[in-house]
Amino acid sequence: MSGKYLVTGGAGYVGSVVAQHLLEAGHKVVVLDNLSTGFREGVPAGASFIEGDIRDADEWLDASFDAVLHFAAFSQVGESVVKPEKYWENNVGGTMALMAAMRETGVRRLVFSSTAAAYGEPVNTPITETDPTAPTSPYGASKLAVDHMITGEAAAHGLAAVSLRYFNVAGAYGRCGERHDPESHLIPLVLQVAQGRREAISVFGDDYPTPDGTCVRDYIHVADLAEAHLLALDAARPGEHLICNLGNGNGFSVREVIETVRKVTGHPIPEVAAPRRGGDPAILVAAAATARERLGWNPSRADLAGIVADAWEFAQHIAKEQ
Ligand SMILES: NC(=O)c1ccc[n+]([C@@H]2O[C@H](COP(=O)([O-])OP(=O)(O)OC[C@H]3O[C@@H](n4cnc5c(N)ncnc54)[C@H](O)[C@@H]3O)[C@@H](O)[C@H]2O)c1
Repeated sequence: MSGKYLVTGGAGYVGSVVAQHLLEAGHKVVVLDNLSTGFREGVPAGASFIEGDIRDADEWLDASFDAVLHFAAFSQVGESVVKPEKYWENNVGGTMALMAAMRETGVRRLVFSSTAAAYGEPVNTPITETDPTAPTSPYGASKLAVDHMITGEAAAHGLAAVSLRYFNVAGAYGRCGERHDPESHLIPLVLQVAQGRREAISVFGDDYPTPDGTCVRDYIHVADLAEAHLLALDAARPGEHLICNLGNGNGFSVREVIETVRKVTGHPIPEVAAPRRGGDPAILVAAAATARERLGWNPSRADLAGIVADAWEFAQHIAKEQ
């Protein structure tokens, strides 16, 4: 059955890909985005667009919406350490306003973009949803605070909610892809070297207890991630807050990513050794059994070369437009 969905942050990377998937599934999509880090041209054709802030969500939300998919947030870990107030204000304050508007209008279904950063330094590998949450940055803490807020909202007011804890989102979906500024994610940064926009890629630490000494991360294709959001809309149950990790469960090291970019782009990609960064765990890999069991999620794009190839195509397309 087709629905009508409010997608906050739908001019950004993940939100635009999910909006595109919703449209392809025959749903109506209204994107609410203040363009603080997103791009007007990132909003998929076919979606209605409101340039506005989640803190004013009550101006646009009404009972005709079936659910909210909430991506709007600031998400730069490093910036959150030096400007924590910016993260509490937008990520937590903004979500409080959104939740109040949902309560007032009776929109009782929510899918929220949570993050692996909610766990902090892992105590187990792979990480499960019942592992301890001890975020190491205000960004991770702000997202975890929203998860707690949603748990209370579901218990007290019957919200049907799913939080999806993404690991490292990567790749692109047609004209929707990653273009953060500044960029902090490894794959787009290495692709910038291939494009001649950056001289070399810094490798932060090569003496971690991993097979090649560099950090290992769980890269998940943004289209696989988008499919989980559509499944989560169906799986959400009134009064329940379901939390699911989203990852492939097998990690790739920084060196493996760089080598894959070399193969995909044909560029030599010079590396520069740099000291470890504080707060970078050696290995971050998801146990995603809950998403498979509860959502029926079955990611099909785990191949790193395919993820990089899609991101590369998008990066070249954006470069041509600029
Ligand atoms: N990209 C990842 O690897 C990753 C990993 C884990 C979690 N997440 C989460 O997924 C979500 C989307 O991430 P992304 O990479 O697409 O980020 P993004 O910056 O590309 O998108 C966020 C969008 O939200 C908008 N926005 C921010 N504050 C707003 C506000 N107050 N009102 C309206 N719009 C606002 C921005 O303009 C932007 O378009 C975020 O919540 C992020 O925390 C992302």
